[in-house]
Amino acid sequence: MTQAFDTLLRKGTVVTPAGIGIADVAIRDGRIAANGELAAATAAEIVDCSGLHILPGVVDTQVHFREPGLEHKEDLSTGTASAALGGVTAIFEMPNTHPSTTTADAIADKLHRARGRAWVDHAFFLGASRDNVEHLAEWERMPGCAGVKIFMGSSTGDLLVDDDASLRRVLQASHRRIAVHCEDETRLKERRHLVEGGAPVVLHPEWRDAETARLATERMLRLAEAIRRRVHILHVTTAEEMELLRRHRAVATVEVTPQHLSLAAPECYERLGSFAQMNPPIRDERHRLALWEALADGTVDVIGSDHAPHTRDEKAKPYPQSPSGMTGVQTLVPIMLDHVNAGRLSLLRFVDLTSAGPARIYGIAGKGRIAVGFDADLTVVDLKAERKITNLWIASRCGWSPFDGTKVTGWPIMTVVRGQMVMREDTLLGEPAGAPVRFWESL
Ligand code: DOR
Repeated sequence: MTQAFDTLLRKGTVVTPAGIGIADVAIRDGRIAANGELAAATAAEIVDCSGLHILPGVVDTQVHFREPGLEHKEDLSTGTASAALGGVTAIFEMPNTHPSTTTADAIADKLHRARGRAWVDHAFFLGASRDNVEHLAEWERMPGCAGVKIFMGSSTGDLLVDDDASLRRVLQASHRRIAVHCEDETRLKERRHLVEGGAPVVLHPEWRDAETARLATERMLRLAEAIRRRVHILHVTTAEEMELLRRHRAVATVEVTPQHLSLAAPECYERLGSFAQMNPPIRDERHRLALWEALADGTVDVIGSDHAPHTRDEKAKPYPQSPSGMTGVQTLVPIMLDHVNAGRLSLLRFVDLTSAGPARIYGIAGKGRIAVGFDADLTVVDLKAERKITNLWIASRCGWSPFDGTKVTGWPIMTVVRGQMVMREDTLLGEPAGAPVRFWESL
């Protein structure tokens, strides 16, 4: 019997939980309807994917899209366009906007703003503050809320929870995933003098040193263990934290970023100046290699970009007035595929870190694998394509990437969000129709 589908992706090399093989993927009503040898099937649209790999949609679980309040750097339209062009099908956005996303109304406002303007699916973090602890359990369950974010050290914006009593209250109050930025605020303040008065940006990892990160991660693990509460440690940067995290698999999941895996001090600061400045900092080769070791031995669960745009003018301010953060949502896939091609991780591991990992950690419903009934979110890539990342290609409003000029092998060719092709060959297609990500109910 012939079957009619909406879309049929023909003869791609499909990555499923069962393995990698050439197959057709059929889509109906935004979901995967069939997957396998579908020679007799028909569809309104047939897309030849021979020579291409069809991966489950890449979910970037850490981006800063700056709306509301800082739209001169980015907004939900430009940020999600950047995501779609980079092969990312869903994003989780961070709460350090203006105002901070610390209330149910602020989450609702972001969801409202995203409607009809977001190119990819999306969810928003609720920022933990000392003032909203008693509401966390209620507000974190709002549809479209990704979970709770804690800043233990000051970064961009004014969100901060750094004393044990408040941290304990947040951990006890929340039932969703808690994602934590681990830098020790006291040590940051103590060492700030190191970079005052015209210090060079290469001292950024000296001020916010490895011990600053280790102290906060250790403290968070101690609290999480005492309260018996799982936490997700964002952008881990040091060998010492990875050692700790290895011993605490039962309470903590782990994120690394492509930039911490790819760039190293001091070279990146000499070459990029404050465009290499982010928090926690890019560190030296010893730490970079330790992140790869942790990725190889299974300590790392997810790759997030920490896309954090600032304008060139802002970045041109003398350090340390220059703000921390760099773009990344559009370059996550090509940079990591280049690492796949260089043999540093397998394609299956990449998929686990960018689709299955996010689904497992955050309890995403209906995404994270190519399987019948799941959302038809697909990242179609050409593993052999040789391209150069350039600032011209970057759709982020700030218009630059720390990887400008980097040659890569492996490139996103199509981005499919719930059956709709939103990017093909570096061009956005159709209208933005991103929807809120759905999560398992925390019952
Ligand atoms: O470098 C960073 N930039 N780290 C953060 O934690 C925040 C981010 C931003 O929002 O600019």
